[in-house]
Amino acid sequence: MTSALPPAPEFGAALPFEAAPDVLRFLALRRSTPAVTLAEPAPNGSQLADLLRIAARAPDHGKLAPWRFVILEGADKAAFAARLDALAQSRGDATLAAKLAKLKIPPMAVAVISSPRPGAIPEWEQILSAGVVCTNLLYAALAMGFGANWITDWYSYDADATAVLGVREGERVAGFVLIGTAREAPLERERPDLDPLVRRWTP
Ligand SMILES: Cc1cc2nc3c(=O)[nH]c(=O)nc-3n(C[C@H](O)[C@H](O)[C@H](O)COP(=O)(O)O)c2cc1C
Repeated sequence: MTSALPPAPEFGAALPFEAAPDVLRFLALRRSTPAVTLAEPAPNGSQLADLLRIAARAPDHGKLAPWRFVILEGADKAAFAARLDALAQSRGDATLAAKLAKLKIPPMAVAVISSPRPGAIPEWEQILSAGVVCTNLLYAALAMGFGANWITDWYSYDADATAVLGVREGERVAGFVLIGTAREAPLERERPDLDPLVRRWTP
């Protein structure tokens, strides 16, 4: 299986510097897919490699790559969900188990872990970079023709659940990007009125 992307540019290579109207159209119309509607097939191995390559091509102050990925698929994802199910049962809150459907139904989940490095770059900026990685991954999956959704839910915040995922001291889950095949065209959701959100600064 070969990559559908151009070869990764060498360090220092001159890159395209041109308008990309197709990208603008995509950004103007793209929509996340409800996670529980995501079906097989998931990206294959080379598609996943392409998606991760694009996800990691994120603005990153200090070039620290302060994030990492955990791929969950097939029987392994089912085993992960079963461990979370057991945790949910032990908490005696039925809503926790119900929320796992968004993780169980899609054929693939990519957990993006924010993993800030010590040093001069503010942690906030490293966390923002992890958010960009999630966004890149979501948009790339949609642009590849898959359905996708970025979710967090309780298991991104619960210490026992993040331990099952392998999240280490100082790390946080930026999100699970759920990927599969959308069964129907998405419907537009409400979008914010930009008027109250935009001001031009004047002295
Ligand atoms: C950081 C973050 C966390 C989210 N967590 C959840 C979640 O826990 N459960 C959920 O149903 N959707 C979650 N969402 C997804 C949104 O509810 C919604 O699907 C998404 O914003 C759809 O917008 P779009 O179509 O413009 O992509 C989350 C989104 C973001 C950015």
